[in-house]
This record gives sequence, structure tokens and C-alpha cells, in this order.
Amino acid sequence: MKFTGHTMALRPYIVGNWKMNGTRAMLAEARAIGRVASRYPDIDVGLAPPFTLLHPMVEAVPELEVGGQDCHASVSGAFTGDISAAMLADAGARFTIVGHSERRQFHGEGNEEVRGKAEAALAADLSVILCVGETEVERDSGHAEAVVSAQLDGSLPRGQGAAAKLAIAYEPVWAIGTGRVPQVSDVAAMHRAIRAKLLAVYGEAGAGVRILYGGSVNAGNAAELLAVDEVAGALVGGASLVAESFAAIINAANMLHDA
Ligand code: 13P
Repeated sequence: MKFTGHTMALRPYIVGNWKMNGTRAMLAEARAIGRVASRYPDIDVGLAPPFTLLHPMVEAVPELEVGGQDCHASVSGAFTGDISAAMLADAGARFTIVGHSERRQFHGEGNEEVRGKAEAALAADLSVILCVGETEVERDSGHAEAVVSAQLDGSLPRGQGAAAKLAIAYEPVWAIGTGRVPQVSDVAAMHRAIRAKLLAVYGEAGAGVRILYGGSVNAGNAAELLAVDEVAGALVGGASLVAESFAAIINAANMLHDA
């Protein structure tokens, strides 16, 4: 078991974020992913399709943990185009992503709003994957850890039991969809800093929060990234759209887990 230090033996967690990709024709791919997931009982596998595929995917692939890519902070109301956490849960979702950099960038979401979404999701009994990450300018100017620390301060959900249903995804904005990944040493340093913050905010419960890496994870680099200390899994975009490449990432997690 590779996990050391503060981290207990956390179950590896591999999640696909399909972003704005996928119609019902893609359910065949999800079924193929489900078959792979069934072969690895020690690995938690999740898939976050567009809202329109949530319920069909839950029905078609019951062995997968299906989740949303975002939710609104309110339960219901005059918010055209938005989806509440209770609606996700009603559609069969078990988790939701919040605070993805594409939401922060294209929808102007700030930390306070992200925290509201995370707390709404927990109140609806969904697990939460909270995304954080620096831009290239912030990395190059030496501020990456300060930026991520401030994002966590502002957006971590508070309240009884929050840590138990929380995962963090560290996704450097400049690594998303670019084929570029950080140095392994930079991933390790950031994940350590995130762990320290989680312990400071949640106490011992912070040790159980899984910290995923995201940003250009693929079949070729997954093993190296997943082997990094404090990396408990991956949030995968492009490579999760093809069952074969996503399967290779799940397999890499399983090999490390068994090692
Ligand atoms: P890519 O794996 O396509 O770089 O996307 C990462 C991501 O944003 C997952 O949420």
C-alpha cells in the first residue's frame, strides 16, 4: 500500500467528467466502462455525464457511480437553466462535481458560490468533488499554492460530517485539455499542501478526504501520476470518453493498489 503519512489507506477513486459531450448513443461507451469497473471491486469508478444523460446512464449502467458536473446552491426557484442538487439526487446521481475551472472561468463562479453549491449537494445527500487549481500565470509567478489555499479557504463546505462525503480534485487550469501535466514533484507538493489544509479545517476527518489529480490524465501517464504520494485518484476529461483509454486508467489504479 503506497499511502503514507497522514493519509490512511484511501480507496482509489477514478472519475470521468464528460463535460458537454455525449448523447444517448454514448450509453454504449458507459456500459463498456461499467463492465470494466465491475472487474475492479477495490476501485471506486464514477462518471459525470451531461445532465441529459444522468438518468438514462443510471438506468443503463447501475454498477457505475453516476454524478452531476455542477448544481445550483438553491433547492428550487426562478433560476432558468440551472439544476438543483435535489434534482440530481432524484435522477439517481450519487455525487456532483462543483467549482470546476470551466464553471469558474465561463460562468464567473467564485469561491463563495462554489461553497454554497457544495453545501447544497451535501444537504441533498450527494458526495462532492470540489475542484481547485491555478492558472499558468499563477504557477509561473510562484503563487500556485497560495491560490489553491485561498480557493480551499473560500469554497470548502463546512458543517457536521462535510469531510466524510468530500473529495478534492486538484486540476491545474493550464493542464486541462492541453496534454501538458505538471512535474510529479509539483503534484506531490500541491497534494501535500491540500492535505495540510484539510487537516487544519476538518481535524482528523481531513485525513479521509480523497485528493484526486486532474488535467490531461491518459492511459500513458496515469500510472506515474497515481503513484504520487497523496494522489488518491484522478478526475479525467477527454480520456474518459473512450472506454478503452478510461479502462487503462482504472487498471493503472488497480495495479498500484495491489502493489
Ligand atoms: P482533461 O482530462 O481533458 O484534461 O480534462 C480534465 C478535467 O477538466 C476533468 O475535470
